[in-house]
Amino acid sequence: MPGPGSHDDCTTLLGKHRIAFYSRMGEGPQTVRLFFSPGRVNLFGGHLDYNGGPVMPTAIDRGTFLAIRPREDGVIHLQSRLDSQGLEFVLGQEPRTKSGRWVDYPVGVIRELLTHWNAGGAARPVCGLDILYGGNLPVGAGLSSSASICVGTAFALNEVWQLGLDRRSQVQCALDAEREFVGVQCGIMDPFAIGLAKPGHLLWLDCKDESFEHLPIDFEELSIVVANSGVQRELAAGEFNKRVMQCSQAFEAMKKHVPGAKCMRDVDPASFEEHRSELEPVLEKRATHVVAEVVRTFAARQALVDGDYERLGQFMTETHRSLRDNFEVSSPELDLLVEAALEVDGCYGSRLTGAGFGGCTVIMAHPDAVSEVAAHVRKRYSAEKGWMPDVEVFHGDEGPREVSL
Ligand code: GLA
Repeated sequence: MPGPGSHDDCTTLLGKHRIAFYSRMGEGPQTVRLFFSPGRVNLFGGHLDYNGGPVMPTAIDRGTFLAIRPREDGVIHLQSRLDSQGLEFVLGQEPRTKSGRWVDYPVGVIRELLTHWNAGGAARPVCGLDILYGGNLPVGAGLSSSASICVGTAFALNEVWQLGLDRRSQVQCALDAEREFVGVQCGIMDPFAIGLAKPGHLLWLDCKDESFEHLPIDFEELSIVVANSGVQRELAAGEFNKRVMQCSQAFEAMKKHVPGAKCMRDVDPASFEEHRSELEPVLEKRATHVVAEVVRTFAARQALVDGDYERLGQFMTETHRSLRDNFEVSSPELDLLVEAALEVDGCYGSRLTGAGFGGCTVIMAHPDAVSEVAAHVRKRYSAEKGWMPDVEVFHGDEGPREVSL
């Protein structure tokens, strides 16, 4: 039977998405094209991307749906199934400032794509479009719904407008849109994890030089389970930007001790131990996490390559504890989800995923233990928090694509 994120299920949901498109946008002679763009879950390297460290995320089989139909009047019409208020504008007159609404993500990407297109001096004018967004990824839950929309938009419009951008350039457009138009100082992990996904693999991404590699993962031996706390990440944007700033302040204070260091990732454990007392207490805590997490992420890579999932899981749980105690981005709900999962035999490890402050945890478990882990986590969480969390197995994904029904 197809699971909730399986290929069959995705096709069925996209079929419904096309029906929703017609009811929102009306019938028309032009063909509606359908696209899927995954979300991502980060397994290793918590809050390392903006410190230039290594990360190991994977794209997941839940994501954003786009239904797109060309129109001849040069108008871009954006709608979402999650919001009755859309946006219309004429190509060439894109909004110049953000609105604080979801439309900022696609508008930011469209602006980036048009800049590329103008710079390339292409002769073929781009056409207007009706676009309906939807999906099966919880929004604001730490599974990167924003990068899913941005990379998905860059991919789909590159196809529809035939811009000829390669995948790496599409990822860059998505990243620039979030940083420059939406104004979040996000690291590079999320759009890379989505845009460069390969099924059956984690992405090993070195955020210092943007080099990457796909590392195989054996889903016969290890399942990835996601538990949603149901708590929206209220503080996320402000607190996230604060962590980015604190890490950069810690680096400013440490760099004089490490010749040639370009980012916090370059501060080695020995130099940090020697000079940590020079940092004010909060910065010392943040740096403690980053320095140890870099070492841990390299060790986790080795454990993955060795197929040692017990050890891999221990690193994951250590990451959670450091994110909780040193980086202070966890919450009582996330801690409870992690601790409950760890009580079940066959659970290798667990941690919060994404920025933290709410959203989801990820659990690595032996496939035979998954039902028990899910049942136990649901039972403890609902008994203590009065709310039944979604706990589901997620599969990997191949990245953004057009889907024909
Ligand atoms: C958010 C950001 C990512 C990364 C994670 C923390 O998801 O978008 O770039 O910094 O937090 O690992």
